[in-house]
Amino acid sequence: MPDLSGINKMTKEIKRSDGRRVNELREMKAKVGVVPNADGSAMFAFGNTVAIAAVYGPRQLHPQHMQDPSRGILRCNYDLLSFSVYDRKRPGPSRRSQEISKVTEWALQPAVDLSAFPNNVVDVQIYILQADAGTRTAGINAASMALAHAGIPMRDLVCSVALGKNDKTLIVDLTKEEEDFSEGEGATDFAIAKLGNTDEFSLMQMDGKIQPELVNEVLRLGKEACDEILEAQKKALKESVESEEEK
Ligand code: CDP
Repeated sequence: MPDLSGINKMTKEIKRSDGRRVNELREMKAKVGVVPNADGSAMFAFGNTVAIAAVYGPRQLHPQHMQDPSRGILRCNYDLLSFSVYDRKRPGPSRRSQEISKVTEWALQPAVDLSAFPNNVVDVQIYILQADAGTRTAGINAASMALAHAGIPMRDLVCSVALGKNDKTLIVDLTKEEEDFSEGEGATDFAIAKLGNTDEFSLMQMDGKIQPELVNEVLRLGKEACDEILEAQKKALKESVESEEEK
């Protein structure tokens, strides 16, 4: 359990509806190799939020005018499956899915080295099987593991989590119920991604409001959460290597 000293200096510890402490992640599940037909794949879950990612490539990019002769291109596609949410989600791309695909690409790019693959593309397909908030962050965690599983040259893994403010209290890994909290100052959703072994952040997105003096505390809690996520990702990758070796 991470050190709680210094947490929420401005507020008191609150009881969350699922009994978690303010800085406690939901139960994580991580598994590599869940899509046999892909070059690399992974599943990552935060509680009831479940994401799978499948990687294809590097392969030649068509149409040709989209190719970059100096390096390969990373292309991400994120979507919610129709049955992943309470109201059926209309199939096909939306403004939301396009935005999340783009920020996922940006979040992963600093970790991936495609300089050896000019004119090629690495496609990352991310689908959300079950959504209970934090789907972009679960998707990034799954995608980072799937890229490593596919043998794509990487500088690091990418770890991602959503933090937030529930009225006045900072909390880690919000559920949909917590994201919809509307009393007092309401809810703030602050998604981050960072490289696993450095302090380089590759995603920071916020919905809602936060006092500027709380931002550093959000990042500190985010880093602690990312350390736990990195361990879960590494464990799953190690297990997949061990099971390959046994075959
Ligand atoms: O999922 P994430 O927190 O990254 O992104 P969001 O756009 O803030 O969505 C928050 C949550 O709203 C999702 O995780 C789903 O639980 C829910 N949602 C939904 O029920 N139907 C949609 N069409 C989109 C989102």
